[in-house]
Amino acid sequence: MQILEKINQLKDSHKAVILAHNYQPAEIQDIADFTGDSLGLSIKASQTDAEVIVFCGVRFMAETAAILSPKKTVLLPDEFAGCPLADMITAEQLLKLKQQHPDALVVCYVNSSAQVKAESDYCCTSSNAVEVVNSLPKNREIIFVPDRYLGQYVIEQTGRDLILWPGYCQVHIVITEEDIENNKAKYPDSIVMAHPECTEPVKALADQILSTGGMLNFVSKSKAKRFIVATEVDMIHALQKQNPNAEYFPASKRAVCPNMKLITLEKILWALQDMQYKITVPEPIRVKAQKAVDRMIEILPAD
Ligand code: 13P
Ligand code: SF4
Repeated sequence: MQILEKINQLKDSHKAVILAHNYQPAEIQDIADFTGDSLGLSIKASQTDAEVIVFCGVRFMAETAAILSPKKTVLLPDEFAGCPLADMITAEQLLKLKQQHPDALVVCYVNSSAQVKAESDYCCTSSNAVEVVNSLPKNREIIFVPDRYLGQYVIEQTGRDLILWPGYCQVHIVITEEDIENNKAKYPDSIVMAHPECTEPVKALADQILSTGGMLNFVSKSKAKRFIVATEVDMIHALQKQNPNAEYFPASKRAVCPNMKLITLEKILWALQDMQYKITVPEPIRVKAQKAVDRMIEILPAD
């Protein structure tokens, strides 16, 4: 029997759903029941009536699903698929920062551990970070962790003076101004879309600053036919599938997230065969983290 047949059979018998992030390898995106950005996947995970969620992404995404759906079995097909950005702040470090700013509200990017979420008031994704910060009282200080580049973008968009943490995504910071300029010189009629995790000089050269879900929405409404894509390279597969009539150029072919690529079809099969690797969050942490995550999925992006 072919691997896809086996996966489908096991999916049916376990009442499982496969969720995949837009940075997953093409063949994983193609077999998923639902693909999307961090916000879309979290909402899907909270709404599905499946009993098992196979999360094709990285640990914090599976953890967020486990926070939202504690009665479901959440599986991450590779236990080492982590996110170095999420690992750049610990709950202890956040607690210290909170002690220095005792009246501040804490907003954490969803790219963070369950423990950090439990110490935060609000969680957000790149698609609703601006809306989340705009919803907060004007007279309160705000701590924003862990991505400094998303934080800087939110400062510019909201005019709020955020207390930032020096975290960054090692995939997005490899994209340089020169990459954008060289691509622009080659494809002068193209639109540059950059993820907010890119550095400030790259974002300054972009026409649009968007989450991965925002990129898909923007392209589907745009009349343009060529796009330079400043984010992880497999985003191009998601764009091509949804809008095959446009052309897409990666800003940098080096923008590859090695953790996202740890997921393979074989590992999805083994995940369903052996119910591995179960992602759970200790109940006291889960309950605290859920408050911040519930707020995140209630505040929708403006567009
Ligand atoms: P979004 O898909 O939510 O834009 O997130 C990008 C990302 O880096 C996830 O790790
Ligand atoms: Fe983490 Fe960056 Fe990979 Fe996203 S692309 S999972 S932020 S390392």
